[in-house]
Amino acid sequence: MPEAGGHKSVFLVGFMGAGKTSVGRSLGRRLGWRFEDLDDRIQARAGHSIAEIFRDLGEAEFRRLENTSLRELVSELGTEPRVVALGGGAFAQPENVGLLERADVRVVFLDGPAEELHRRCEEEQRERPLLQDAKQFGELYEQRRSAYLMASCRIDTTGKDVDGVAVEVACRLGLE
Ligand code: S3P
Repeated sequence: MPEAGGHKSVFLVGFMGAGKTSVGRSLGRRLGWRFEDLDDRIQARAGHSIAEIFRDLGEAEFRRLENTSLRELVSELGTEPRVVALGGGAFAQPENVGLLERADVRVVFLDGPAEELHRRCEEEQRERPLLQDAKQFGELYEQRRSAYLMASCRIDTTGKDVDGVAVEVACRLGLE
């Protein structure tokens, strides 16, 4: 729902390693908007880490929790616009794409070459259940790319730092 001043919430989507969480945090600080990571909401709701949910309940149950958490988050959008980072698979689920379309928010695809995204994930050492070897990682990225391209804009993050990408998002959306 747009704010009285006309600003819509911004949702960052893209593959693992694209920098959705770190760019989202930086963008939120820049704009003075609240930042939220959907994976944090899922973990709080489930009382388990993402890795535990995948391990104990499986991916299908994770996707169900992800959709429920996203619906809840969207229903809370009010007059204050927010910056939200989605997990890498969320925008590849058609029901979530429809939900965000109906919510009238801005969706930004943070992109980069699969090799660079894979390298960043390995450097980060965060536990990611779907992080596999470079070949499988690249295949999953290719499967999802057409979904990510349904976002209202795409930003190439190759070789850029977090704050630089946040500034670019703000400029592209006319928020600077
Ligand atoms: C996933 C990406 C993760 C997390 C979960 C599933 C995916 O988020 O939601 O492990 O399907 O690509 P990040 O993109 O923040 O790593």
